[in-house]
Amino acid sequence: MLAAILETTPHLRAHLVDLEPTASEARTTFAGRGLADRVEVRGGSFFDPLPAKADAYLLVDILHNWDDENARRILTRCAEAAGRSARILAIEAVSGIHASTEMDLVMLVHFGGRERRVEEFRALASSAGLVLASAAPLTSQRGLLEFRVA
Ligand SMILES: C[S@@+](CC[C@H](N)C(=O)[O-])C[C@H]1O[C@@H](n2cnc3c(N)ncnc32)[C@H](O)[C@@H]1O
Repeated sequence: MLAAILETTPHLRAHLVDLEPTASEARTTFAGRGLADRVEVRGGSFFDPLPAKADAYLLVDILHNWDDENARRILTRCAEAAGRSARILAIEAVSGIHASTEMDLVMLVHFGGRERRVEEFRALASSAGLVLASAAPLTSQRGLLEFRVA
C-alpha cells in the first residue's frame, strides 16, 4: 500500500513502522521499487512513540486485530505524535457495511480483536483523544475512516 502511494505521489516521503522481520522485508520491497530514499523503515512497535509531526498516519487492517484497550493504545500513540492539522487514517472493514459476523468471530478467536461499526470507531477514537471526521466507503470490502486530534 505504501509503495503504491509513494509511486503515485512523487513529492511524498514516508515512515513505515512494523515489527521485524516484516520491516526488513519492507526495506527490500522499497529498494526493489526504487523508493528506498523516500521511505524510512523502522523495525519497532506501534505501542511505542511514533514518528512525530507527520501530515498523515495510515493504519491499514490494524485496529481490527486488537481489542478495544489495545486499539485505543495504538490510536493514542497516533494522537500523541500527530499535530493538530494531521490526519489519522484507518482503512478497515466496517461492521454492518463490509464485515460479517463470521469475520468478527474470526478476529476474536485468532487475535482477540473485533470488527467495529462506525459508531464504535467514533467512541474508540474519542477515548484516544481523536474525533472521527469522516467515514467513507472505499472498496466493496473496506472503508476509510479519518480522525483528527480533538
Ligand atoms: C493484518 S497485517 C496488516 C499489514 C499492512 N498494514 C497491510 O495492510 O498489508 C498487521 C500488521 O501489524 C503488524 N504488527 C503487529 N503487531 C505490531 C506492533 N506491536 N507494532 C507494529 N506492527 C505490528 C504485523 O507485523 C503486520 O504487518
